[in-house]
Amino acid sequence: MKKLTIALLSGGISSERDVSIASGDQVYEALDHNKYNVLRYDPKTDIQQLVTDAPKIDAALIILHGPFGEDGTIQGLLDLLDIPYQGSGVLGSALGMNKLASKHLYEKAGLLVPPYMVLGQNDGFDEDACTRSLGLPLVVKPVGSGSSVGISIVKSKDLLKNAVKEAFTQDDKVLIEAYIDGIELTGGVIGNDQLEAFPLIEIVPDKSYEFFDYAAKYTAGATKEICPARINDEMAEKAQEIAKTAHQALFCKGYSRTDMILKNQDIFVLETNTIPGMTATSLLPQAAGKAGISFSRLLDRLIELSMEDRKISR
Ligand SMILES: Nc1ncnc2c1ncn2[C@@H]1O[C@H](COP(=O)(O)OP(=O)(O)O)[C@@H](O)[C@H]1O
Ligand SMILES: [Mg+2]
Repeated sequence: MKKLTIALLSGGISSERDVSIASGDQVYEALDHNKYNVLRYDPKTDIQQLVTDAPKIDAALIILHGPFGEDGTIQGLLDLLDIPYQGSGVLGSALGMNKLASKHLYEKAGLLVPPYMVLGQNDGFDEDACTRSLGLPLVVKPVGSGSSVGISIVKSKDLLKNAVKEAFTQDDKVLIEAYIDGIELTGGVIGNDQLEAFPLIEIVPDKSYEFFDYAAKYTAGATKEICPARINDEMAEKAQEIAKTAHQALFCKGYSRTDMILKNQDIFVLETNTIPGMTATSLLPQAAGKAGISFSRLLDRLIELSMEDRKISR
């Protein structure tokens, strides 16, 4: 069979650049070089080259996180260049990147989200009213961005103002959410028409981290990731269904990974990642591994799905 030419995009200009480069290297290693001719591009410097090479590219793997990678912009460029790519299109990517738009759609789909309020740069902010309605602790997060950048957990009212200021460095809209004290779960799904859920992963950051923050996410051994999650079958099935519903509610395609918190019998949806971490030991590849799909095979599958979806949408 003729080798496919794959454009591997990593790097970019978001705060998650370093993670993206590390993932790109591992994806490059894991791709079956007997099947693929892999060309690498860093959108920070190589957009022009990508445009020039477009006619010879069969599919792209976007291993970028955050703005200008996971938010629909690169997806739009690839659409214009007629290059299929893994995962969500412009719409799903843009929605997944916006935690407020996501919440609206989750709620519409009947999913539970943590109680929240939204703040704009010029809105007056009444801290008393905020803590009266949402309680304490609170989670303050920028509406955009990922990898926990700009997110803080606020345990006392006097720290709230600073947390909000910090979140505003990442976005001009900020979410303040009630803190849900429960079991953190993440659920990967894969497929085009027929969505399949991977086994759930339970996330347990070491006690030295307040929550699943940037360091807990990227320091080796800082977080226990337990797969399958230690919850009963009924709850696991419910969480897997929620991951599928969240994927569909945000118009996602191909694959995604939804973060959730289980408290008592309730499952709260936090967000859906349209380009989940893609090192061999990242959450989604781990869960795929539990389902018997190696990292290499997972990449094959994502490439197949991208090309199949392109055929359907024409
Ligand atoms: N409402 C919440 N209650 C408890 N913990 C939360 C809440 N929101 C976020 N967190 C914690 O912060 C982490 C990052 O939040 P998330 O919404 O998933 O954003 P990111 O895009 O940065 O991953 C979560 O994995 C979780 O540990
Ligand atoms: Mg998350």
